[in-house]
Amino acid sequence: MIIPSIIVHGGAKTISEDKVAANHAGCTAAAEAGWTVLLSGGTASEAVEAAIRVLEADQTFNASLGATLNGDGEVELDAAMMEGSLSWGAVAAVQGIRHPISIARKIMDEKPRLLVARGAERFAADCKAEMCRKEDLIADEQWQQWKQWKQDQEVVDRPNTVGCVALDSSGILAAGTSTGGTTNQQSGRVGDTALIGCGLYADNKFGACSTTGDGESIIPVVLAKTAIDFLVGDRHPDEAAQMAIDTLKSKVKGEAGCILLDPQGRVGWAYNSQDMAIAYMTEKMDRTAVFTKK
Ligand code: GLY
Repeated sequence: MIIPSIIVHGGAKTISEDKVAANHAGCTAAAEAGWTVLLSGGTASEAVEAAIRVLEADQTFNASLGATLNGDGEVELDAAMMEGSLSWGAVAAVQGIRHPISIARKIMDEKPRLLVARGAERFAADCKAEMCRKEDLIADEQWQQWKQWKQDQEVVDRPNTVGCVALDSSGILAAGTSTGGTTNQQSGRVGDTALIGCGLYADNKFGACSTTGDGESIIPVVLAKTAIDFLVGDRHPDEAAQMAIDTLKSKVKGEAGCILLDPQGRVGWAYNSQDMAIAYMTEKMDRTAVFTKK
């Protein structure tokens, strides 16, 4: 019998004391949303979508509403989803879409499977996705920070991507990611989040991974696929995750984190940022949720 599992992250970053509770609550709510889908017989990709939609709607996290602003003071979003059957979909540099993860999932059935900017927005509108004015996704805190940055050019926060990995009762794995990118990034920049192998990877035979951190460092080490490649033999996902982060550190000196699930539903994670918010649930763990802060 396959035991479902789900793990979510709220980004590799520094979590100030006043944000600990919100990160904890948001990640736990996301894991619970995905877990509910799995328990009712839903698929891994449905669970990943449900979990990430919770994080996208929560201003605590750098995804959709509350995402960090680019250099032009706008929210520009990337998201992707991959199933263990090697099916995938992604959108990048989109605006005015409330739940980019749902569009990434939707586009898995289509060709092309990676759409950017206006083309992706048109696809989302055609799918009757929840569209909004691009300004509606700007949270007050992010706006204040951007104005401060405009004044003194000092970045006060380094928020990061959200992600989720799930295993359903049919043994199907799925991984998803969603982000507003890096603080004050150049308009049009696309990081690892939308790129298969970098921001996420899923293969039913080996495992699934979602990453978070500096896209420019994650991309050259193909971090998600690298983590999956370390899941050989009976290696525990915790060890594989740590080996992937060590590889990144030694090769490009970047800051990142990753979450992993293997086909047995064992969870693992590692990060070299100051903190990373995590929550996970499995039947074996009696639906335990945890939160990590170094
Ligand atoms: N990991 C998010 C980004 O670099 O865009």
